[in-house]
Amino acid sequence: MCGIIGFTGNLDATEVMLNGLSELEYRGYDSAGIAFFQNDAIRTIKTTGKVSNLIEKVVSSVDKDTTCGIGHTRWATHGGVSDTNCHPHTFGKVTLIHNGIIENYHELEKEFAKESKFPVSQTDSEIAAMVIDSLYTGDAYEALRKASDILDGAYGFCILFHDQPGVIYAIRNGSPLVACQSEQGSIIASDMVALIKYSKDYFVLPEHHIAKLDGSQIEVTALDGTVVEPKILHVDWDITSAKKGGYPHYMLKEIHEQPDALHNTITPRVKNGMLDFKEDGIADDVFTDINRVIIIGCGTAMHAGLIGKVMFEKLLRIPVTVEIASEFRYNDPILDKNTLVITISQSGETADTLAALRLSKEAGCKTLSIVNVKGSSIARESDYVFYTHAGPEIAVASTKAYMVQLSSIYMIAFKFAMLRGTISKETCEDYLKQLQDTINAVATTIDLDKQIEKISECLTSVEDLFFIGRGLDYPLSCEGSIKLKEISYIHSEAYAAGELKHGTLSLVTDDVPVIALATQEKVYSKMISNIREVRARGAMVILITNGEMPVDDDLCAHHIVLPKTDDQFAPFTAAVVLQLIAYYTSVHRGLNVDQPRNLAKSVTVE
Ligand code: F6R
Repeated sequence: MCGIIGFTGNLDATEVMLNGLSELEYRGYDSAGIAFFQNDAIRTIKTTGKVSNLIEKVVSSVDKDTTCGIGHTRWATHGGVSDTNCHPHTFGKVTLIHNGIIENYHELEKEFAKESKFPVSQTDSEIAAMVIDSLYTGDAYEALRKASDILDGAYGFCILFHDQPGVIYAIRNGSPLVACQSEQGSIIASDMVALIKYSKDYFVLPEHHIAKLDGSQIEVTALDGTVVEPKILHVDWDITSAKKGGYPHYMLKEIHEQPDALHNTITPRVKNGMLDFKEDGIADDVFTDINRVIIIGCGTAMHAGLIGKVMFEKLLRIPVTVEIASEFRYNDPILDKNTLVITISQSGETADTLAALRLSKEAGCKTLSIVNVKGSSIARESDYVFYTHAGPEIAVASTKAYMVQLSSIYMIAFKFAMLRGTISKETCEDYLKQLQDTINAVATTIDLDKQIEKISECLTSVEDLFFIGRGLDYPLSCEGSIKLKEISYIHSEAYAAGELKHGTLSLVTDDVPVIALATQEKVYSKMISNIREVRARGAMVILITNGEMPVDDDLCAHHIVLPKTDDQFAPFTAAVVLQLIAYYTSVHRGLNVDQPRNLAKSVTVE
């Protein structure tokens, strides 16, 4: 939600900001803007629409003589998409950019508005600028300290005080901010992708801390004024990993990166053919005394959890529930110290998942998170972290992160089951070997690309569609459905195939597409009966099977055959097909695959 960047140093700041905003655009693309010091005065340029609109505006109107500025790409929360609501916002001596939501902005507006000065936008962010300006008497620390007592909600701010040229202040509560010092200057942003060009070493600004960037150094202080030495983290990917690398879209690139992502996530945990989580700091006794597991996430991450539930219950024989984070946090859940709470998040910053994690910790549960972004809030606040190594995921629709979330859940389930004695060491080794073999099966499935591109043509102008499956294929259907909805804007629903005739079958009429996942042999004949039910109502069926299976000619319009794996690994290969169906349908409909309307990559607000 919103990308922010600040730079001060010895480079042209407009160029650094515009490059950074292009990298951060996946976080919001309703509007973009920059503000910078020019001849000791502040100049602001902003526009609705994409960063490319801003670049055009900047190139035609700015001399490259600024070395300090802040930039923002917006995902609208409070206040519609309009020129006045674009960031940066200026009030008095304060110009700022904001990622997050100030919840008490209405009350603050009444309290802080002066007759001579009114907010010009409808945003909560401008009210924050108004508050900070009212508190500013030349001491930025004092103003920010006082403001942090007054502002309720989530924020990451980068702030220029007009009488302090060349200096940027930043403060955060809930919303992510990472920073690095390089020879070229000091730089801060909401995501590492905007920093990687300048340094692979960075730090996460701790919550409720203030960073002061002056070009030669970044000083971090706690609110009580104590200077803090932040922990330096290192990324092992480079800028090319975060670029499209010849693919027309990030999503397609990321689909193709899945075998590598799986390899990078699985291999470091395999020692002598057995799972070993020592380097993750997860000792065997973490699983002792656990009699219940709760898996929490949002969207695709939660769907990975649904697959996890089936696997955990099958292998561990203990109850597992999967919770939508935004519901869990307000539902007064029953929690205790024998409950293992697993939170799943690509970004590690999803506000609801973070809140659910905090609630679980307070209740005394053991917490383990499966996270992709190093040093993110969820990773830092969990008792244990199992990092996925997908590298940066830029497309809004999650693909490779989901894939490695699955592999992580499987590894945890295998190890946990072996430690509980519900599977033997030999079985654990065998499952691990099969998981490793799945990497090749995923690569082979990606080779079905052309067949799926062709099949997807028949979905170009449909309005409604159903995904059906049983067993592991049902949670997988949920993932297929969200992927299609978010980037093709086709209405779709996922149904447990046996549940259709309890209501939804009335929506299946002539030529309504039904994507039928039939990868689970145990329920294959049941699935075939369910497919017959939709065929009898005229549905156009796209059937997906695990290897060649007996299929009557009239059963489906299209048949996609996955490379054969053991059924419990079919979600890995089938997910690729569902991702490619969504991808090509979006492409055929001429839509913006990587940046679907109304959505942003990292949801740091409730
Ligand atoms: C869908 C998608 C979202 C995310 C969800 C959680 O393709 O990407 O549903 O899975 O917003 O995000 P993270 O994993 O960052 O917590």
